[in-house]
Amino acid sequence: MEKKSIDWANLGFGYVQTDYRFVSNFKDGAWDEGIMAQDANIVISECACVLQYAQTVFEGMKAYTTADGRTVTFRPDLNAERMEQSARRLEMPVFPKDKFVEAVLKTIKANEAYVPPYGSGATLYVRPFMFGSNAVIGVKPADEYQFRVFTTPVGPYFKGGVKPLTIRVCDFDRAAPKGTGHIKAGLNYAMSLYAIMDAHKEGYDENMYLDAATRTKVEETGGANFLFVTRDGKVVTPKSNSILPSITRRSLMHVAKEYLGMEAEEREIYVEELADFAECGLCGTAAVISPVGKVVDHGKEICFPSGMTEMGPVTRKLYETLTGIQMGTIKAPEGWVVEV
Ligand code: PLP
Ligand code: COI
Repeated sequence: MEKKSIDWANLGFGYVQTDYRFVSNFKDGAWDEGIMAQDANIVISECACVLQYAQTVFEGMKAYTTADGRTVTFRPDLNAERMEQSARRLEMPVFPKDKFVEAVLKTIKANEAYVPPYGSGATLYVRPFMFGSNAVIGVKPADEYQFRVFTTPVGPYFKGGVKPLTIRVCDFDRAAPKGTGHIKAGLNYAMSLYAIMDAHKEGYDENMYLDAATRTKVEETGGANFLFVTRDGKVVTPKSNSILPSITRRSLMHVAKEYLGMEAEEREIYVEELADFAECGLCGTAAVISPVGKVVDHGKEICFPSGMTEMGPVTRKLYETLTGIQMGTIKAPEGWVVEV
């Protein structure tokens, strides 16, 4: 497979149009077979439910070139399951799990020339999404939907690569206790735009959202879950019903326990405890694990002992093990790595 001539090492996290996308439509209660399309544009009614009432959900995953030259993706079954949960919460039809995985693999295959080479530091980001496509003016779900999968080659999500981030405790809330924080819906990101622009204006890389009910517990950022390492070497991550169940985080907890022999625990984490941790990281498909060096809580600086120049030692081990599994240099648990 001849790769496109792209400056892989200098890619940021942006959209680069690739050649093919999967498109399937839902009409009269059923999904059609779907096609691989070359047109990246979508023409829909001005009154489409997605445009008026934000009826849209999405997923994010990646394709990698392994050390021995295969093209693979990571745990696509979990993205399919999460998209099902997201769709149900927004009264959308479910795109069947086996069809979802097949569509993702087909789209990666069709765009294989854009899967960055092993060792380039870049990956192919895969974006499955679905939206209500017919005209709806009274507030109700659409009757017609489109499911699509596109790909785009990407570099690191945060500009500095693995340079530790500075984040602030945010005064805006991301998700209500019984709201939609646990699903991957566009609406959760629309309402975070003001908060992220405000954080950037104030010199922070990201927001740390707290639980909306008590504002005492750590939830997540706009696009990643938190992982902390305690001073006695345990990995802990926030337990909450209003955060997105990150596939990266769930995988890292397994890696910590089964590959690194560490204790790993999901529990409520209080802002008050932050100063007790040795390391902090943001984890997600886009973020992989991005180290956090400092959290600022209304003027009070909490500096992790891992510092502002490098990843902490446990974060690094987690990062290297997970990426080793994804790129085929470390043996993966059964079913985690799927060949395209
Ligand atoms: N939290 C939010 C709000 C996200 O948008 C993402 C990205 O998908 C994550 C967490 C990380 O989830 P995953 O590891 O499944 O990509
Ligand atoms: C991801 O990590 O896949 C995300 O979706 C995060 C962000 C780009 C929304």
